[in-house]
Amino acid sequence: MKSVTVKTELKEYDIDFRSGFYGISDTIEKSGVKGSKICVITDDNIEQLYGDEVKEALLKNFKEVYIKSFTKGEKSKNLDTISDIYKFLLENHFDRKCAVAGLGGGVAGDMAGFVAATYMRGIEFIQIPTSLLAEVDSSVGGKTGVDFCGSKNIIGAFYQPSFVYINIDTLKTLPKREFSAGMAEVIKYGIILSKDFYNFISENREKIKSMDIDTMTEVIAKCCEFKAFVVSNDEKEKGMRAILNYGHTIGHAVESLKEFELIHGECVGIGMVAAMKISCDRGVITEKDLNEFEELLTYFDIPVKTKGLNPEDVYSQMFNDKKVSDSKINFVLVDNEIGKSYVTSEISKDEIIKAISYVVE
Ligand SMILES: NC(=O)c1ccc[n+]([C@@H]2O[C@H](COP(=O)([O-])OP(=O)(O)OC[C@H]3O[C@@H](n4cnc5c(N)ncnc54)[C@H](O)[C@@H]3O)[C@@H](O)[C@H]2O)c1
Ligand SMILES: [Zn+2]
Repeated sequence: MKSVTVKTELKEYDIDFRSGFYGISDTIEKSGVKGSKICVITDDNIEQLYGDEVKEALLKNFKEVYIKSFTKGEKSKNLDTISDIYKFLLENHFDRKCAVAGLGGGVAGDMAGFVAATYMRGIEFIQIPTSLLAEVDSSVGGKTGVDFCGSKNIIGAFYQPSFVYINIDTLKTLPKREFSAGMAEVIKYGIILSKDFYNFISENREKIKSMDIDTMTEVIAKCCEFKAFVVSNDEKEKGMRAILNYGHTIGHAVESLKEFELIHGECVGIGMVAAMKISCDRGVITEKDLNEFEELLTYFDIPVKTKGLNPEDVYSQMFNDKKVSDSKINFVLVDNEIGKSYVTSEISKDEIIKAISYVVE
């Protein structure tokens, strides 16, 4: 069994990789998670696909296993759903000794974590991610929360899980579009942290696209190591963690303006191309690097450009992001070469507009 350890100031925990859900019992015992009952928080789609299997597996360690689902999608990620879950826990007499599991994509994980952080001032929490994005990003690092009044993730808490359990087989049912969106975040780790990993993805693109289980396990575990490394250095995003926002500055702006058309990872793809264009214009990377990067994204069906947006509108939208501090845009850029990155606010409007114009047609 493959395993990656995450070390934060408050907690140390494992991310275990297995085929199937049955191994979760070993992980529960190894991590010392106890409790008489557990509530699995998931969306209706995942409940249908995996609810029974997960329930059966958890019944080995918990006397009672409850499943509470919500309508799939980001629209459910709000305080109404949270309130609904609190009520469910109260009705079923959940106390401090009970546990909560987040099963599914980032929406389920972020909400389950928030419930665990706040219900009775904090109860046991485990993550069982099933989307590629959740496996390589959202389930690791302890950011939990919901959207509020049109702002994404504006209400939340830092709350680490006791473990993350990845059943790699769940990728088989993941819709292709969600897989591609997750791949944008995978490629991001290569750009910001490791040229070797970037080259590995490029060289193994066929195996990855066909979801070869061994290759995917290696890829996801490596991403978890990167995320664990960044989070252990900067749990609450006071410094280094910000490099994970590579491609997200312009990406988020595009996402807000294209809400019903493009999903997060797709916007990150577009945002990364724009950020790469800035590095290219500055002579940090070559045009060949930029072209190869676009070609890699395209191979994984990640969009590199979008239509119907005005660059000035995208630029203005960037200032509505909660990560903008003192109206300064913090940009993550490649530092000297692919695989190294840094955060800077030393960037002119002209440079940004030029980069946006490159990705919006
Ligand atoms: N906490 C963090 O650090 C962090 C980081 C990045 C993103 N996020 C959050 O994550 C969310 C996005 O996550 P997401 O992309 O996983 O979205 P999601 O949870 O909505 O999942 C996407 C869709 O895929 C389906 N799905 C998931 N796994 C599946 C599987 N194995 N088989 C079939 N269908 C499957 C879901 O039912 C859903 O319809 C956003 O809300 C974002 O804010 C959080
Ligand atoms: Zn992202």
